[in-house]
Amino acid sequence: VPRTTGRLEIGVFSTPRELPPRERQARAGAIVIDVLRATTTLAYAFRAGALAARFYGTPAAARRGARRAGGKVLLCGEREGRAIPGFDLGNSPLEYTPARVAGATLLFTSTNGSLAFLASRFAAVQWAVGFVNAQAAVEAVAGWAAGARENGEAAGLLVVCAGKEGEPAPEDSLCAAHVVGHLVRRLAAAGIAARVQGEGLHPPAGPEAAAAAVRQSPHARYLRSLGPEFARDVEASLAWDVLEVVPSGRGARLCRTSLRAR
Ligand code: MLT
Repeated sequence: VPRTTGRLEIGVFSTPRELPPRERQARAGAIVIDVLRATTTLAYAFRAGALAARFYGTPAAARRGARRAGGKVLLCGEREGRAIPGFDLGNSPLEYTPARVAGATLLFTSTNGSLAFLASRFAAVQWAVGFVNAQAAVEAVAGWAAGARENGEAAGLLVVCAGKEGEPAPEDSLCAAHVVGHLVRRLAAAGIAARVQGEGLHPPAGPEAAAAAVRQSPHARYLRSLGPEFARDVEASLAWDVLEVVPSGRGARLCRTSLRAR
């Protein structure tokens, strides 16, 4: 994160591996975006009453976490898009119903999304963001930025796209551009200047344009090839601002905060 000079410095990273090292994450906030499907799923899960989520790099590490954890825990995630054998839930937003997840801590391991949370775990705060909760996320992040400024804390913002296996994913970059565009305007209205660094930030013209672009993305095509329930996940991930929940936390652990749901 570039040093703060009175304005909020926003760095957009199209994959987690471009993130700055630990010491330069420390006072930043991190918006983590994995539209298909991890951050969309997390927003649905928290809307359904999940208490917390922790991230793991491998299914084995998540299973070890389950042995140590107390309370209601659920093993969640995917490999190659499919549910992991022996796990409680996959990575489909629509699986995360109140009946399944209310009051539970989710031990989450997914191919790209979980790694984005782990890679940005040194940030002061992390938010799980997709198209489904983008507007609510803008409000949450603007509130955090205003608080940091009032307290005289130097703050930067990392926008972390999960990408796909180390490469940029168009659905994440598009969502990042969408969120950053709104955020910069929202900050300006609050008297906070921002400077954005990052390549290829082209905000979508609107929900239809975004949906058309995301449907053509390699990961959307892949998910559709797995069957109709995965095609439904793609469509669910494209809806703008249907949730007001923004899962947030730090250290690759999110916990339940605002649950004002539509
Ligand atoms: C991931 O974290 O890689 C994903 O969310 C992939 C998916 O389940 O579609």
